Amino acid sequence: MQTRALGNTGAMVSSLGLGCMGLSEFYGPTDDESSIKLIQEALARGVNFLDSSDMYGPFANEILLGKALVKRRSEAFVATKFGFVRDEKGGWHGVNGRPNYIRAACEASLRRLKVDHIDLYYQERVDPAVPIEESVGAMADLVRAGNVRFLGLSEASPMTIRRACREHPISALQTEYSLWSRDPELELLTICQELGIGYVAYSPLGRGFLTGTIREFQHLSTNDVRRESPRFMGENFNRNLDVVDQIIRIAQARDATAAQVALAWVLAQGDHIIAIPGTTKLTRLEENLESTSLTLSAEDIEALEAVAPIGFAMGERYPVDRMQMLNL
Ligand SMILES: NC(=O)c1ccc[n+]([C@@H]2O[C@H](COP(=O)([O-])OP(=O)(O)OC[C@H]3O[C@@H](n4cnc5c(N)ncnc54)[C@H](OP(=O)(O)O)[C@@H]3O)[C@@H](O)[C@H]2O)c1
Repeated sequence: MQTRALGNTGAMVSSLGLGCMGLSEFYGPTDDESSIKLIQEALARGVNFLDSSDMYGPFANEILLGKALVKRRSEAFVATKFGFVRDEKGGWHGVNGRPNYIRAACEASLRRLKVDHIDLYYQERVDPAVPIEESVGAMADLVRAGNVRFLGLSEASPMTIRRACREHPISALQTEYSLWSRDPELELLTICQELGIGYVAYSPLGRGFLTGTIREFQHLSTNDVRRESPRFMGENFNRNLDVVDQIIRIAQARDATAAQVALAWVLAQGDHIIAIPGTTKLTRLEENLESTSLTLSAEDIEALEAVAPIGFAMGERYPVDRMQMLNL
């Protein structure tokens, strides 16, 4: 498995991680037994970078990882997050970046994951009511206490990232990045490079859409959150699919799948980038891993960027009411 350095931490992680979110919530039915097997199969293939959050499930995803990692802890680089406040029933209660909350959230994550430390602990969304110095200061205390090795931010602005770095080194920034979400190219990728921060691309397959396998909105299960995503709705779905069909043609010419080309494209944007595609299926995990040995030529990259220029996607990344709640 190809590895990459995580920012300037000295830690090496697999260039493709496993996004574990969909193993517990958001994209339709899940099954814990096969999810545990999938995580262990990923580890066996050298995928050591596992991405979770206390809010996936809620809470169930960290418990799942805890079960998968019994006797396998040393093989994994465990990343998880705090920040969204959710209850056992799945309710949403905004974001919280206060020191007391952070300490309690970390303790709870360690307990659920059944680990003595978290390798990478992210603030999932910045709390606009709390200065970033206060939140990162509390996260730094967790590093000093040995609960956490490295710190990360998710969906933070350039100014916030710079302020955070003055408080404590930030090892990773996680934001959405794929052929249909290319905004990080405008500023974030460069800032990460400048500050020695690893960049973690979430939803690198455009929540599955860029693979070309989602052909009908109606095929999404009734509890799939993509039903509420503007990019999957109405005429946007068809317009976006036209672009995906062009990506499929480029992939076919390389004897690859659209998923492989989409992932290879993300990894080609810089050595400091790690992508964390999610899947519930072993065959797709294997398909995705092959993207790490697919080298796109300059012509391939040019062709992909011509069919998927920055801003082509019809529809926002999240529903408008959720954008406000997610602080985007
Ligand atoms: N920080 C944040 O705010 C944030 C937000 C969203 C996600 N994330 C992280 O990023 C990870 C990945 O993002 P994501 O799961 O939203 O989106 P993604 O990785 O872009 O896409 C996942 C979807 O693609 C499908 N898929 C995967 N490989 C495929 C293939 N080869 N062919 C066809 N379909 C394929 C999966 O379905 P199957 O299961 O059926 O294969 C799943 O529905 C998450 O698990 C989570 O850890 C972070």
